Amino acid sequence: MQLPTQLKRAIEQQSDRIGLKQLVQAATELSDNYRFRQGATTRFIATEAHRIAYAATRMPATYAAVLAVLREAKRLLPDESFASLLDLGAGPGTASWAACEVFAPLQKITLIERDRELIRLGQTFAAQASDEVLQRAEWLAQDLSQVISFAQHDVVICSYALGELSLSQARQVVQTAWQAAGKALVILEPGTMKGFALLRQLRADLLVANGNIIAPCPHQQTCPMPEADWCHFAARVERSAMHRKLKGGALGYEDEKYAYLVVTKSPADSATARILRHPKQHSGFIQFQLCTKEGLQEVTVTRRDKEAFKQARKANWGEAWSNHS
Ligand SMILES: C[S@@+](CC[C@H](N)C(=O)[O-])C[C@H]1O[C@@H](n2cnc3c(N)ncnc32)[C@H](O)[C@@H]1O
Repeated sequence: MQLPTQLKRAIEQQSDRIGLKQLVQAATELSDNYRFRQGATTRFIATEAHRIAYAATRMPATYAAVLAVLREAKRLLPDESFASLLDLGAGPGTASWAACEVFAPLQKITLIERDRELIRLGQTFAAQASDEVLQRAEWLAQDLSQVISFAQHDVVICSYALGELSLSQARQVVQTAWQAAGKALVILEPGTMKGFALLRQLRADLLVANGNIIAPCPHQQTCPMPEADWCHFAARVERSAMHRKLKGGALGYEDEKYAYLVVTKSPADSATARILRHPKQHSGFIQFQLCTKEGLQEVTVTRRDKEAFKQARKANWGEAWSNHS
């Protein structure tokens, strides 16, 4: 996965303006802020250099995660069309760029972000988009925790933002977001124990609010994941030369770990089962750890079951597993 060319170019232009030395330092500070600082009062992205470092180092990863999640939503809702998108805690507009790719043609995008400078940066990027809906998107400078109601949109997305609020604020924002979601609500958080714990709570709240969970869960029951484990997935991101200079490391890619929820207003089919880990390939058999309608299960597919084995060889972590009855 790579960012859209126009977005990549726009980020590079801003990065050149700041200069490599300052950007490397900002990228390190940003990474430390997200790793070590806690609390709803913390501004993780605090300076101009941080904003551009976020765009250069984190946007490709969060974009890849959102893209994977929205593609899965679209796969599960093949007949649904989405005309409007509300992007909450939008940052520089990452999720909106991904939504434009998956849900085209969108007719309206509204982005809410509390940091006016980040909005300005996002608008600079959006001005270079080939998608006209992104160019004329509406950006609102608002604190999510202070908003009583959001305008109705077909899809509401909250990508990597709720973890920056207190738990009670995050729960309240999700209730408000759910009311504004005409068709679906999508939430992503980092694929950590903490990100998953938040999503597990939000999932329980959304079930009480009559939400229909279509992904990643194959059921509407209580999450069966044991306390010491967490449900998360990974999106592979190609690392640009600039990205490698900023974050070090020699690999040409990185795997962004994320946890997510796709919740619909109307009942819709979820996957039959979800693959929770890299399948273990052995000679003659493949083992899967699945979340199923009957809870967590370890399933073995042997070469003898020809059709299922053929499918199993191509199956990946995070995908739906349809051969489960
Ligand atoms: C990690 S960034 C995610 C940005 C973007 N959604 C993405 O996926 O790349 C979190 C964003 O949430 C914003 N944010 C955090 N708390 C907020 C609040 N109370 N109101 C509005 N925005 C908030 C931050 O300013 C930041 O831009």
